[in-house]
Amino acid sequence: MKWGLIGAMEEEIAALLSAMTDVSSETVAGRAYYSGKLGTADVTLTQCGVGKVCAAMAAQILVDRFHVDALVNTGVAGGLAKELQVGDIVLSESALHHDFDITAFGHVRGYIGGGGDDTVPTRFYADRGLIDRFMKGAENKTGHRVLCGTVASGDVFVDDTALKIAVRDEFNATVAEMEGAAVAQVATANGVPFLIVREVSDLAENDAAGCSDNFLEKAARRSAKLLIAMVNV
Ligand code: ADE
Repeated sequence: MKWGLIGAMEEEIAALLSAMTDVSSETVAGRAYYSGKLGTADVTLTQCGVGKVCAAMAAQILVDRFHVDALVNTGVAGGLAKELQVGDIVLSESALHHDFDITAFGHVRGYIGGGGDDTVPTRFYADRGLIDRFMKGAENKTGHRVLCGTVASGDVFVDDTALKIAVRDEFNATVAEMEGAAVAQVATANGVPFLIVREVSDLAENDAAGCSDNFLEKAARRSAKLLIAMVNV
């Protein structure tokens, strides 16, 4: 089994890259793809850049050029659900695009076209086996809460309480971030299982950018440890 691992920012992949062995790298469409081992697992890791276009490109390249069997998107996220605290880890039960808007044609926000029920936002469902595997790997390795929920992705950093509440309430969303649904959509289109793993770095309110920056490296190190455990279960 070969894993495709995607993080948006340098901090989000640094701890994973430094744990890899037998590393070789190849640049495709301007981004480096690092292939090697994490423990005994075969992986290709990339820093895709911020936002859904970058994430979609990376996901498709990992499928086409690196022949991965599963896609995992890791990083931080803004907490939306009321019970969330900074440091909680959220796994995608499903992912959707909160900024996809063709309501002008009578569809609900988040419905992306292409068939299916247009009265509800389009959701991409993560692989149950990958969720179970993450939980097994994480056992006794985190003092942090691990929850499953809806990952709402958009090309916007949510740092506004009104927007936070709108996204949370409209989509029953657990966290907001900027890549997951793109990875999920590409994975689903290719019949490849996926999982999004996000650590809550801020609560998506007015001070979110500062909070997220402060927390990024610590969160990334912790997530890396859990991902390494997961791919070696
Ligand atoms: N990533 C981390 N925090 C975020 C937020 N508040 N909005 C979008 N992406 C994020």
